[in-house]
Amino acid sequence: MEIKKVALVTGGMGGLGTAICQRLQRAGFRVAATYSPHNSSPEGWLAAQRDEGYRFTAYKVDVGDFADSEWMVQKLLSEQGRLDVLVNNAGITRDRSLAKMQHDDWVEVMRTNLDSVFNLSKQAIEPMIAQGGGRIINISSVNGQKGAFGQTNYSAAKAAMHGFTKALALEMARHGVTVNTVSPGYLRTKMVTAVPEEVMTSRILPQIPVGRLGEPEEVAGLVAYLSSDEAAFVTGANIAINGGQHMS
Ligand code: CAA
Repeated sequence: MEIKKVALVTGGMGGLGTAICQRLQRAGFRVAATYSPHNSSPEGWLAAQRDEGYRFTAYKVDVGDFADSEWMVQKLLSEQGRLDVLVNNAGITRDRSLAKMQHDDWVEVMRTNLDSVFNLSKQAIEPMIAQGGGRIINISSVNGQKGAFGQTNYSAAKAAMHGFTKALALEMARHGVTVNTVSPGYLRTKMVTAVPEEVMTSRILPQIPVGRLGEPEEVAGLVAYLSSDEAAFVTGANIAINGGQHMS
């Protein structure tokens, strides 16, 4: 009997997370989505996904908390039996110029966007090594590559994710575990469409040569490729998907 591989997507119920969960399920994975303790209606999301023909498992976790992340991954392993793909997708913004930024804005963004990558990857590598391979995909941002006004916290966390990727890619290469960063530009998700209309039209859209926001499904397609057996030679890479906004 063919083994069905298991993918875990943190922040799986958000705009990009949902697209990634759906795409990985269509690629043949059993998919688990994490949601934060602040999410009041995970059942609503699961039901809506079922209506669209998707069956996901959901795990509540504060990805910024080490012990909670450890507990959650152990629970997943005992229920699902394996872990093949980890997509570190959970992320938040607390945009403010540094002059106005509060210490809490810094701490919250660092723990959710960066500590989470350590917390989850630390749990994932052991089962992946034991299984003879795996995939870790860190969802960063164009703003980690080029910086953005009002995002000293977010840009720092997103840039640091790729340092983590490169170091862990070296450690994991001989185990068949690839570790990569995906750096999306501005996507049509709530995180981006929540910015004031004026900022969108005068500051964001003019920076994007393709002339539009990206679709979450476009990024999900790249994540599916990196999750596949075909992508075994891609590791330590930072793949930009940003409509031409930033080329490095
Ligand atoms: N570039 C240059 N100058 C800017 C600026 C910008 N982007 N934004 C504001 N300024 C200027 C203001 O005009 C103002 O100038 P004056 O003092 O001369 O009037 C000065 O900087 C200070 O402005 P504010 O007092 O408004 O600054 P603030 O600390 O309140 O922060 C902000 C403003 C909240 C950052 C606001 O600019 C904003 O909402 N920007 C958009 C943030 C954004 O795009 N976030 C993206 C979220 S999505 C995402 O990040 C996903 C991803 O990965 C791509």
